[in-house]
Amino acid sequence: MKKKDLLKADLLKTKVEHVSLDTFNPVPLIEAMDKMAFQARNTARAAQIYEMMLKEKDCAVILCLAGSLVSAGLKKVIVQLLENDMVDAIVSTGANIVDQDFFEGLGFRHWQGTPFVDDNVLRELHIDRIYDTFIDEDELRACDDTCKKIADSLDPRPYSSREFIREMGSWLARKGKNKESIVLRAFEKDVPIFCPAFSDCSAGFGLVEHQYRNGLVGKPTMSLDSAKDFLELTRIKMDVKETGLFMIGGGVPKNFAQDIVVAADILGVDVGMHKYAVQITVADERDGALSGSTLKEASSWGKVSTTFEQMVYGEATVFFPLIAGYAYHKKAQKGRKPRRFAQMLELSPAARG
Ligand SMILES: NC(=O)c1ccc[n+]([C@@H]2O[C@H](COP(=O)([O-])OP(=O)(O)OC[C@H]3O[C@@H](n4cnc5c(N)ncnc54)[C@H](O)[C@@H]3O)[C@@H](O)[C@H]2O)c1
Repeated sequence: MKKKDLLKADLLKTKVEHVSLDTFNPVPLIEAMDKMAFQARNTARAAQIYEMMLKEKDCAVILCLAGSLVSAGLKKVIVQLLENDMVDAIVSTGANIVDQDFFEGLGFRHWQGTPFVDDNVLRELHIDRIYDTFIDEDELRACDDTCKKIADSLDPRPYSSREFIREMGSWLARKGKNKESIVLRAFEKDVPIFCPAFSDCSAGFGLVEHQYRNGLVGKPTMSLDSAKDFLELTRIKMDVKETGLFMIGGGVPKNFAQDIVVAADILGVDVGMHKYAVQITVADERDGALSGSTLKEASSWGKVSTTFEQMVYGEATVFFPLIAGYAYHKKAQKGRKPRRFAQMLELSPAARG
């Protein structure tokens, strides 16, 4: 082995392991935090609100994902929420779904690294860094390439990101190497996943190549239809009585999921605001930006009801397993039926366009 390869192998040797909700029971801790103050009490209230949205019979839960959650070891928590019918639709950044989850589904891993490293050396070794996590850039290229192959295999027409991600799930079902995957489990459970800014991730590189290379030889190409995404997610809101948002981080998924109330209103359907909303974020509201804007503020826009909302100011690797684990161990999912919104969207002529 060359010296460079040895150094790379040495840096990529400790896997990021995904925490499992089965390995701890946070109920006593959350109950104690409920009697405390500051973010402890906010976390307890958020956990109770998540439990309430799961227990309400006619309430669909939309999970929103931003930041780098899957690479950080939170994949299994999301897979467990899917397996236990504790989430009915997902709105995410492409990074979580493609670069991180689909990437692991193809058999690749994330590695424990360190921020105290010479990034020029990492560049030479084709190692990408997310804070204290390392990724093999050559493997990410294989992920981009798989997205191109999927795009090449499709009829050349506009697709919602949800439709494309379903194709990725089908790919993993046939050829995946790691079956513990959000994309795969959502495919099996008919839970739709939307990535409103889908090209802004590994899939984008594959789609750019698909359009460029096929375009050079005059072949028609597939494309993404972001309005179709918005219509499909809005149809979910119009299909159920109540909705609850469980938002991890901020960014595009937070706004996109909140906006479906307004979209339904514009379509002349009175759906009511999101009844429940919880957000875990490290952003605060001082800059006026979306990621830290409070859920009370969202109420002024007619998107979120103020009765059952809770901001939690904390980092998701700590707070997400606590809140999800509380509802899971309180068995809030008991008796909850899978809604299989993906089937509804596949059948809908309006969503098919
Ligand atoms: N994160 C990556 O490594 C990565 C890789 C490729 C592409 N992208 C793309 O970049 C775009 C922007 O991504 P984004 O919206 O995730 O941006 P982002 O990472 O800036 O996250 C948005 C906000 O969410 C909150 N947040 C993020 N991580 C958190 C955490 N661990 N705990 C608590 N709060 C947290 C913060 O307030 C942050 O400002 C997306 O289109 C994504 O696909 C990201």
